[in-house]
Amino acid sequence: MLKYLGVLSLVFFNFFLAQAKLFYIEVKYPLLGNEAPPGSPWPMPFYMNDTSNNLLYLKKSLFQIKSNMKVDCDIIRENIRHYRNVIFPPKIYSNVTKKSKINLNYLTILNLKISAADVCPKYPDSNMNESYNLTISSNGADLYAESVWGALRGLETFSQLTFFTEDNRLAINDSTVIVDKPRFVYRGLLIDTARHFIPVPILRKQLDAMAYHKLNVFHWHIVDDQSFPLELFKYPNITEKGRYSKAHVYTHKDVKTIIEHARLRGIRVIPEFDSPGHVEAFGRAFPEFLTVCWKDGKPYQPIFSVQGAAEIVNPTNEYVYPVLKEILSEFKNLFVDEYIHLGNDEVYYDCWKSNPDVANWMKKMNFSEYHHLQAYYSSKVLKIVQDLGRKSTVWQDVYDNGVELQKGTQIQIWKDTSILPEHGKWSDYLNNVTRDGYAAILSSPWYINFVSYGYQEWYKFYQVDPFANFSGNDAQAKLLIGGEAALWSEYVDGGNMDSRLWPRLSAIAERLWSPAHVNDPEDAKFRLDEQRCRLLRRGIVAAPVLNGYCGDYEYGMAKSNVFDPVFNYGWPNL
Ligand SMILES: *[C@@H]1O[C@H](CO)[C@@H](O)[C@H](O)[C@H]1NC(C)=O
Ligand SMILES: *[C@@H]1O[C@H](CO)[C@@H](O)[C@H](O)[C@H]1NC(C)=O
Ligand SMILES: *[C@@H]1O[C@H](CO)[C@@H](O)[C@H](O)[C@H]1NC(C)=O
Ligand SMILES: *[C@@H]1O[C@H](CO)[C@@H](O)[C@H](O)[C@H]1NC(C)=O
Ligand SMILES: *[C@@H]1O[C@H](CO)[C@@H](O)[C@H](O)[C@H]1NC(C)=O
Ligand SMILES: *[C@@H]1O[C@H](CO)[C@@H](O)[C@H](O)[C@H]1NC(C)=O
Ligand SMILES: *[C@@H]1O[C@H](CO)[C@@H](O)[C@H](O)[C@H]1NC(C)=O
Ligand SMILES: *[C@@H]1O[C@H](CO)[C@@H](O)[C@H](O)[C@H]1NC(C)=O
Ligand SMILES: *[C@@H]1O[C@H](CO)[C@@H](O)[C@H](O)[C@H]1NC(C)=O
Repeated sequence: MLKYLGVLSLVFFNFFLAQAKLFYIEVKYPLLGNEAPPGSPWPMPFYMNDTSNNLLYLKKSLFQIKSNMKVDCDIIRENIRHYRNVIFPPKIYSNVTKKSKINLNYLTILNLKISAADVCPKYPDSNMNESYNLTISSNGADLYAESVWGALRGLETFSQLTFFTEDNRLAINDSTVIVDKPRFVYRGLLIDTARHFIPVPILRKQLDAMAYHKLNVFHWHIVDDQSFPLELFKYPNITEKGRYSKAHVYTHKDVKTIIEHARLRGIRVIPEFDSPGHVEAFGRAFPEFLTVCWKDGKPYQPIFSVQGAAEIVNPTNEYVYPVLKEILSEFKNLFVDEYIHLGNDEVYYDCWKSNPDVANWMKKMNFSEYHHLQAYYSSKVLKIVQDLGRKSTVWQDVYDNGVELQKGTQIQIWKDTSILPEHGKWSDYLNNVTRDGYAAILSSPWYINFVSYGYQEWYKFYQVDPFANFSGNDAQAKLLIGGEAALWSEYVDGGNMDSRLWPRLSAIAERLWSPAHVNDPEDAKFRLDEQRCRLLRRGIVAAPVLNGYCGDYEYGMAKSNVFDPVFNYGWPNL
């Protein structure tokens, strides 16, 4: 039996039709926490205040978004267009009351006031300024931002402040003041497209959803053991032998589409070329580059539960480096971000140790330890990227193995005792990495591919604070630049990606954007459910948080196909 919440909710829901009506999950467990009013934003801004009980109304024909840009800027142009569509969704609310006896106050303008009005930046980067302020009043709304990137974040917040009233009018609170800026500069999502190929429209949709959460880095784990779906001009046979099929390939044109889609949303695209492990698919075109594992005096013997018969690069083969250089330079020309991710995770030494040729080579080189071999390999690959004028991100393994890395290398932390008992704690890794002067990105507690009943991990994701048990000084704290959720795709493809990611990733997005004190999941769940309904209306098939319903709308109830689950409405065809 479902039952209304307390008096508070009755008051709200009688006067303003919320975007969701929320109920007990089970009657015997009353819901804790403070309910969020309609139009509550996610992630929560740094500061928000509301001093009036009045509502302003919005009507598409009476509302404009203007910008003070002095140069033509496609980023601003496309976002004004897009957010007009987001703010005024296609008419699913067919029962709008036509005539009104009361005089309504309309909000007629949103002014974008960008300080750097003569700069239309080409691409988002690690230094972009995403801060903005927003004031809503009956004279109009003003959005102040240092750069276009802040304007994008502010437009998103503005769109979330609008909501439908009981009589299906679009409204916004009068006299709202918002001062907002991100807590962390790096707020990412890794998507693995090698275990399962994720079609381009699905990736584009996830970029939309990322922008709805102010996430700003798409880490594209594009290739792995299972497949190599990236088109390479220099070595077409790597793709031919590594892809699942001809249809399962990202052409250069596809990659450019993704980068363009991301650019317009203020999202960086960082590609990963993972090696020396995770290269089985790559090795199909260059079998001689893989280390042959030995057992009982015989080659090509799999090492059960650690490595296949040949799946890790053989660093002693000097011919591998010129080929890697060609591949990475193709990456450089294709992907625009200043960073390339070089993987270097899970480099287990068993296969190298089993191989007599590797042992002989190491003797010749006076390498007494296998991490010297890894260091030899990693430093060569890092040098290639440096020579190409790019910076590297690596998984923490290479650091853990004592490899000295170039200054400016970013280290991604994925290990934790909760992932494997022999690991250390992620907080200790963060302390160590930043102590040694490297920038750190936290992923360990945010492996979003792990699921349990009801998908309620969002509680766990939400309660993580990257600075928990951080013992470094201020300089070290600055090196903890943010975090990244990882969606490993062994059990995910385009079909179930929406509900695997959303709104669970929303929880992580708030942790990375909002101030640390916004951390009560019992309060957050109401706002999160509102965000979930917002996502549904925007074509993202997010999973439910609480019991109840999404205003007048459920996924699948729309009379037209405007909520196409794959192609979001309102954006230009790229
Ligand atoms: C909100 O603004 C009003 C009016 O300026 C001020 O009195 C009040 O302290 C503010 N509230 C918060 C929480 O900042
Ligand atoms: C809108 O205004 C009402 C009344 O002042 C307030 O209770 C509510 O918190 C406001 N909503 C938001 C999203 O700030
Ligand atoms: C439409 O609105 C009218 C007037 O508010 C109401 O009487 C009617 O029940 C509504 N119809 C539906 C399907 O909600
Ligand atoms: C927003 O307002 C704060 C506080 O008044 C101010 O420090 C900051 O510079 C403003 N930011 C922008 C982007 O205008
Ligand atoms: C971003 O711009 C605002 C407003 O000018 C400024 O106060 C803030 O310090 C800038 N933030 C960063 C990280 O540069
Ligand atoms: C793939 O192409 C490269 C260079 O074009 C060549 O050296 C290599 O032998 C080819 N691999 C196979 C398996 O034919
Ligand atoms: C290895 O050590 C020997 C003896 O010290 C030295 O002669 C040789 O040059 C070293 N080899 C390399 C590759 O450094
Ligand atoms: C951190 O560094 C200390 C000192 O070098 C070391 O003892 C410890 O094992 C490291 N912690 C982890 C989790 O690697
Ligand atoms: C922080 O330290 C406390 C006390 O040792 C421990 O219980 C907790 O799990 C630690 N949290 C993290 C994130 O490491």
